Amino acid sequence: MRDGRFITFEGIDGSGKSTQARLLHAALTARGVDAVLTREPGGAPGAEDIRRLLVEGDPDRWSPETEILLFTAARRDHLEKTIEPALVKGKTVVSDRFADSTRVYQGAARGELRELVDRLHEMAIGREPDMTLVIDMEPEEALRRGLARASGEDRFEDMGLDFQQRLREGFLTLAHDHPDRCRVIDGNRPEDAVAGDVLAAVLGSE
Ligand SMILES: Nc1ncnc2c1ncn2[C@@H]1O[C@H](COP(=O)(O)OP(=O)(O)OP(=O)(O)O)[C@@H](O)[C@H]1O
Ligand SMILES: [Mg+2]
Repeated sequence: MRDGRFITFEGIDGSGKSTQARLLHAALTARGVDAVLTREPGGAPGAEDIRRLLVEGDPDRWSPETEILLFTAARRDHLEKTIEPALVKGKTVVSDRFADSTRVYQGAARGELRELVDRLHEMAIGREPDMTLVIDMEPEEALRRGLARASGEDRFEDMGLDFQQRLREGFLTLAHDHPDRCRVIDGNRPEDAVAGDVLAAVLGSE
């Protein structure tokens, strides 16, 4: 059996990744595609335990290096327990964030961390998505949406607008550097309009 497709959503906080991942999963399922919806950090029981260590508590709880190790540990568990078993069965995997988030967030926090992220990825993960949808939008609008939620998981959002602006640039640079797998989608439109472009990009690249 042919391996399934691995599709990821990336973008700044509140840009609509979770919304669009859910809508894409529903649209694919409605078309008869066997699809799995998952997320990072998390996506497997052990990785969800690590998620709680990462997203709750004081912004200075972990050093940037420790944080990268925790993200990588969670990603390895997610890959082993959820992503690879589904792909091997021919299922499509839709993940709300993956390795690009670590590249961009840690790179935006401190540029020299990018090498640590890349080396750990190469050694412990070694897998890229087949397609990455980068949901792009103004940080002001995205932050307003995100703060309206009060989920208790706002450790990253608390880092402020300047940081979100660096993240936006980081995701756009990444998309520019990986045109083979990345598509930039304008997220500052109604959900259905964004979802239409996402589905067209996914079906168009089959
Ligand atoms: N196209 C849209 N227009 C208006 N509001 C939207 C749109 N898409 C999502 N929202 C709303 O904005 C908020 C953030 O959306 P969502 O949770 O999907 O973003 P996210 O990128 O997953 O955020 P985070 O990075 O914090 O996980 C939610 O309240 C959601 O209902
Ligand atoms: Mg989300």
